[in-house]
Amino acid sequence: MLARVTRWDMDVTSTAGTFTIREATDADADAIVAVLNTDAPQPTSAEAYLERERQANRQPTWRTRWALEDADGQIVGTSVVNASQWVRADEHILQLVVAPHARSRGYGAALLAASRDAARAQGAARLRTNIRDAHPDVRAWAERQGFTLLYHKFESTLDLAAFDERAHGDVDGALARAGIQLTDMVALGGDDANWTRLHDFFADRLTETPDMKGMPRWTREQVRQALLDEDAQPEWTVVARRGEQWLGFSILTRHPRGAYNFITAVRPEARGVGLGRALKVEVIRRARAAGFTSMLTHNLSVNASMLAVNRRLGFEPRPGLWVMTGSTSWAVGGAGDGAH
Ligand SMILES: CC(C)(COP(=O)(O)OP(=O)(O)OC[C@H]1O[C@@H](n2cnc3c(N)ncnc32)[C@H](O)[C@@H]1OP(=O)(O)O)[C@@H](O)C(=O)NCCC(=O)NCCS
Repeated sequence: MLARVTRWDMDVTSTAGTFTIREATDADADAIVAVLNTDAPQPTSAEAYLERERQANRQPTWRTRWALEDADGQIVGTSVVNASQWVRADEHILQLVVAPHARSRGYGAALLAASRDAARAQGAARLRTNIRDAHPDVRAWAERQGFTLLYHKFESTLDLAAFDERAHGDVDGALARAGIQLTDMVALGGDDANWTRLHDFFADRLTETPDMKGMPRWTREQVRQALLDEDAQPEWTVVARRGEQWLGFSILTRHPRGAYNFITAVRPEARGVGLGRALKVEVIRRARAAGFTSMLTHNLSVNASMLAVNRRLGFEPRPGLWVMTGSTSWAVGGAGDGAH
């Protein structure tokens, strides 16, 4: 790419001629959605996009979005960079799409450069991006730009109508022998003290998940907000306890395509006796009782025990995402940071 770049929001001369990278506005919604839809498994509408924008703008975290106009003034590329409590504090999230008909002209690299510059100016050392596993060419492009693979993240689905509860009857006996009971936030009494306890328990367990390990522990407020965003209900918030001690929990929520298992986690000292599977069987029972025919969850390739539980329950992996990370350091005229 021939890039003549000193700052963004300006024209750039490249092998593809002159193009412009500027901040995107809501007035660009139709054109941006058309670009995003070239990479989306389900097309979205401008209305849905604008609603997501409104939601994102209500978050306290920093965020910026770009539009790339080609020489004819058509928007053919877009990127969004934002901070997030789901990633490390020194890392920002990047979503970047160039419409297929406009690829191989250096637009992607130019949008990436603008995104890297903006993230670095905010103090971010790295960018994290999700690439669809159906698109190995895009992953190869990201690798050429200096990104490396963190893990594979994918949706798994369970056919609730075909689920055979009797095949997991052993978990009830295992819990009884271990003196463990499954309860929920209704039975526990959904008072402030118990919700605070749940928020703390959630924050502790989250630090033990492979993707959040090493990240700052969430505050109670962050957990409370995440549960609000998921519309978590007390009767679908299942807690495993032995006497007064809480050992694990699992939360079921609603998803447009079925019941969603938002999180299942067990304290390290209580693992390996079937509690993870027992919690999931319990939320499966509740989802079936509520009339759902399908359950979804998200899995990481690096979470061996959760994958083992899901496989045993009959969850089937669906197409997913390669989660990649790259440095925000970028030399003008260079192809990425070349450090990886
Ligand atoms: C995932 C988790 C809930 C499992 O809890 P658990 O009580 O140990 O689960 P179970 O005892 O029911 O089952 C664990 C299974 O993993 C298997 N397992 C454990 N470590 C494994 C490894 N390194 N490789 C492969 N399988 C492994 C066990 O053999 C067992 O399978 P089996 O029943 O077929 O023998 C627990 O490890 C956890 O809380 N992890 C952190 C939270 C998390 O990552 N949650 C998922 C994201 S929301």
